[in-house]
Amino acid sequence: MKYQLIIKTKIAFVAAVLLLSGSAAAEGDAAAGAAIGYSCLGCHGIEGYRNAYPSFRVPKLGGQKATYLEIALRGYRDGMREHPTMVAQSASLTDQQIADVAAFLASFGSEAVDAGGAQVEPFAKAATCNACHGQNGISLAPNWPTLAGQHEEYLVHALNQYRDGSRKDPVMSPMAAPLTDEDVKILAKFYSSLPGLETTLKAD
Ligand code: HEC
Ligand code: HEC
Repeated sequence: MKYQLIIKTKIAFVAAVLLLSGSAAAEGDAAAGAAIGYSCLGCHGIEGYRNAYPSFRVPKLGGQKATYLEIALRGYRDGMREHPTMVAQSASLTDQQIADVAAFLASFGSEAVDAGGAQVEPFAKAATCNACHGQNGISLAPNWPTLAGQHEEYLVHALNQYRDGSRKDPVMSPMAAPLTDEDVKILAKFYSSLPGLETTLKAD
């Protein structure tokens, strides 16, 4: 009886500590993330590498925000995103390992993103998107992905995933829902044409 109570108290204590530590984002260590990160470049580090089915180009990660990379990886691990390979890649990673590998991948950077992207004329179709993704496709906050320079096919794929519900996000699902196939095409073409993200090339 007494023993059970101690165990219960212990569990409550551990849960409270986890809750507290969970609210502070883990600091990523790029050097620690390198060991895992190099294996990722087998797909993400090859220019134009394609996902077999459905067929689309693997997303560029060079210049992407580290915080967004973390959110994306946790999304695969925790069931918000469904891609089988990426679910397998992230299934066994701890929050700390995810922060480390995100810091490693973000360390590759992109000159276009570092320079703040291009000056572009306001694009009417993208007016609502600009508030978060930036007029020139360089996102305005670390938890929002940069879209500039991303593969056109991947942007189409991502928007369609929000539209058909296979990728869920409280912000993007309602943003994508009213888009038509034509809107998706036009927006993907626009963002992919801007200077920004790059393939994180694998060093020889
Ligand atoms: C076999 C090829 C392959 C490997 C290996 C791979 N990825 Fe991916 N990755 C993909 C594909 C394909 C997608 C797009 C999946 C989708 O539809 O969501 C993706 C998506 C991502 C995304 C989301 C990008 C975005 O813009 O939302 C991140 C982040 C990512 N991968 C990181 C990693 C990391 C970190 C590793 C190594 C631990 C890794 N990937 C290994 C193929 C791969
Ligand atoms: C209020 C802020 C906000 C607005 C407005 C917004 N987005 Fe997003 N967008 C986000 C966030 C946050 C994510 C990441 C969601 C997730 O984790 O799936 C995202 C993700 C995306 C992605 C996936 C990127 C990737 O690398 O996988 C695309 C494509 C995208 N948005 C396009 C658009 C378009 C097009 C519009 C306008 C119709 C738009 N967004 C409006 C915040 C916003």
